Amino acid sequence: MNEKLCCANFYQTDYARLIFGASMHPGGLGLTKELGNKIGITKNSKVLDVACGVGTSAIFLAKSFGCHVTGIDLGAKNVDEAVKNSASEGTSAYTEFKVSDAEKIEFPDEAFDHVMCECAFCLTPDKKRASDEVYRVTKHGGSIGISDIVVRGNLPQNLRDALYRFVCVLEAKNEKEYVDYLHDAGFQKVESEDRKETLLVLLDDIKKRVFAAELLIGLGKMKLEIDLDKTKKIIQELRQCVDSGLVSYVLITGKK
Ligand SMILES: C[S@@+](CC[C@H](N)C(=O)[O-])C[C@H]1O[C@@H](n2cnc3c(N)ncnc32)[C@H](O)[C@@H]1O
Repeated sequence: MNEKLCCANFYQTDYARLIFGASMHPGGLGLTKELGNKIGITKNSKVLDVACGVGTSAIFLAKSFGCHVTGIDLGAKNVDEAVKNSASEGTSAYTEFKVSDAEKIEFPDEAFDHVMCECAFCLTPDKKRASDEVYRVTKHGGSIGISDIVVRGNLPQNLRDALYRFVCVLEAKNEKEYVDYLHDAGFQKVESEDRKETLLVLLDDIKKRVFAAELLIGLGKMKLEIDLDKTKKIIQELRQCVDSGLVSYVLITGKK
């Protein structure tokens, strides 16, 4: 199986659902709303959510802005779940979901007013292609909003190995590189803003979820074939990297 599918498959596992919850990015839906406002989403917008996971942000954007949202994800199971979630939230008329690769978006040129991509640009092995693709499908006068993990230097090797299995973020770059990719694709006024605090909160939340899972496993009410002690160790090491500024979370916006 290729690297991209392996990564998408990870985000469909019970383990990924356990550690992230439904909204699989730091800052949760609060940050989604902030990003939506920053890039100017309105009731009349057609929005593309690249790497939409189980549709949590797409459904939220449709509900809070009244806009139409198309979500794409490489994971077919995620897409199926997004369709079901949207139906149960009563937003089917405002959303559609499709299996598609961020590096080969199966929509025509300039199909969307705004493109969002939360915690997933870091996962694409070919960021030039992904940047060219999001630029192609954005209308002139439209905008892009990304929130993502940044790595500003070399991660310790043991953390690199562990993180690959944990969240496959090894393709994460620093914010200047992300900004350059988007700028080179043609976006203008590309700006980034550090949101490190969202990552610290997420790491704390993951710790609490792991603790709750340990309790449930202890009570025989949950089964998980993953070593949660290793997860706790990774969280601790990752937190040190966030504290030192080596790893962070950023918002990046740009206009076409
Ligand atoms: C960390 S999750 C974020 C999901 C969602 N954006 C959210 O914030 O809840 C990363 C998502 O990226 C998807 N993904 C990874 N590589 C992809 C690619 N090349 N094209 C489309 N989706 C991809 C995974 O399947 C997963 O659903």
